[in-house]
Amino acid sequence: MESSRLLIDGGRKIEGEIRVHGAKNSVLPILAATLLCGGAKSGNAGFSRTCAASTVHNCPGLSDAFAAMRILRSLGCEISHEGSTVTVNSADADGDIISDGLMHEMRSSIVFLGAILGRVGRCRLSFPGGCELGPRPIDLHLEALRRLGVRITIDHGILDCTAGVRPTCADITLSLPSVGATENIMLYSALGSGETVIRNAAREPEIADLAGYLIKCGAEISGQGTSTLVINGVPELHGCEYSVMPDRIEAATYMGAAAITGGELMLTGVRPQDMYSCMSVFSEMGCGVYPYDDKVFISARKPITAVRTVRTMPYPGFPTDCQPIVLAALCKSQGTSVIVENIFENRFMAAPELRRMGANIKAEGKVAVIEGVKKLCGAPVRAYDLRAGAALVVAALGAEGQTEISDIHYIDRGYESIETAFSSVGADIKRI
Ligand code: EPZ
Repeated sequence: MESSRLLIDGGRKIEGEIRVHGAKNSVLPILAATLLCGGAKSGNAGFSRTCAASTVHNCPGLSDAFAAMRILRSLGCEISHEGSTVTVNSADADGDIISDGLMHEMRSSIVFLGAILGRVGRCRLSFPGGCELGPRPIDLHLEALRRLGVRITIDHGILDCTAGVRPTCADITLSLPSVGATENIMLYSALGSGETVIRNAAREPEIADLAGYLIKCGAEISGQGTSTLVINGVPELHGCEYSVMPDRIEAATYMGAAAITGGELMLTGVRPQDMYSCMSVFSEMGCGVYPYDDKVFISARKPITAVRTVRTMPYPGFPTDCQPIVLAALCKSQGTSVIVENIFENRFMAAPELRRMGANIKAEGKVAVIEGVKKLCGAPVRAYDLRAGAALVVAALGAEGQTEISDIHYIDRGYESIETAFSSVGADIKRI
């Protein structure tokens, strides 16, 4: 990965207006889902090529999104990309292998498994290695696919899956509401026959967005947004035109910057109804948070105060992806806060780097205790994962002096030119 870095001169108020991009965690499964269009199970030759084309709007310019497009191309899809609009024609898609290189480019390429299996009936990919968030198991994905008749062998780190006879009715209960597992089951069940019920399904808005895309392609899905999803397989899916939902985590990142710098921001192109648990934490910090229509206005005219306890939970609870952002903002607050990370086992990667900037954080296992300090000082720090990197940007904006953040390719996975967004609202931030 190139070794570009961010140079930030902190201490300036973040003020102005930012338009939020499309959601990374929605566009990735939706791009995978485009594979299913044009794959007429009924095999009727009459299925015309144009029916296999999807146009996806509001696609964010993220390295993860570009990696997903490379995977689609490697599977035989035709892709054109103009600004934030991507067109995918999967009429000739017949690939069933994701190369090692492509697998390692994008942590979440596991979401292609269900789509490739649904389209061509076979899929081989290298086991997604552990990543910065601790081991990323996929046992729930594999257990569910086996329940759907898929034969899976794991040999020397290669996952080899073959679709078998699908049960006419499968009733799957997830032991935890895994976002990725819910998505993989939806993607595998949408095309074909049989009814699939998912209980304890993830309820994240990105699941409903994926369902929205698939339904526009002709899929039969109900219950999205609730814990019980029902998918009835259909013989074929056609392409459609769809606009990706806004990125609620990107929005929360900008809110964290306004909070820590005592600024105020108008965020546009957001869906406040997806963000209540985030907005309430910023309100508890003493920020004024005003959601309306497709906007959220946040004002932090008073120094922010500690929040007694923040617990990350599956949606609609406080999202784990916002946890590093709030951790950073609370470093410069009045009082002591406690954060409990219930979703991932290793998600306080920003803590040691924040301590280098003068933060007073004790992180042990799933609990972090933050004693707010009056001042953070710029320092050379390193991004260890996507959201920990974003947390360092937030802290640097609220720190005095210069911060240099390295390994910012992690940040580019989830933020489209983060320096452009923050420069537009008063930050002194440069990519070098
Ligand atoms: C998705 O990851 C998101 N990624 C993550 O965002 C997000 O943090 C996470 O959901 C939770 O909301 C994408 O959508 C691309 P999970 P995913 O399956 O699907 C355990 C970001 O920063 N688990 O809901 O991997 C798992 O280890 C990223 O944008 C199993 O044990 O999350 C974790 O502890 C980071 N076995 C918990 O469940 C499984 O088979 C939640 O994982 C699957 C998951």
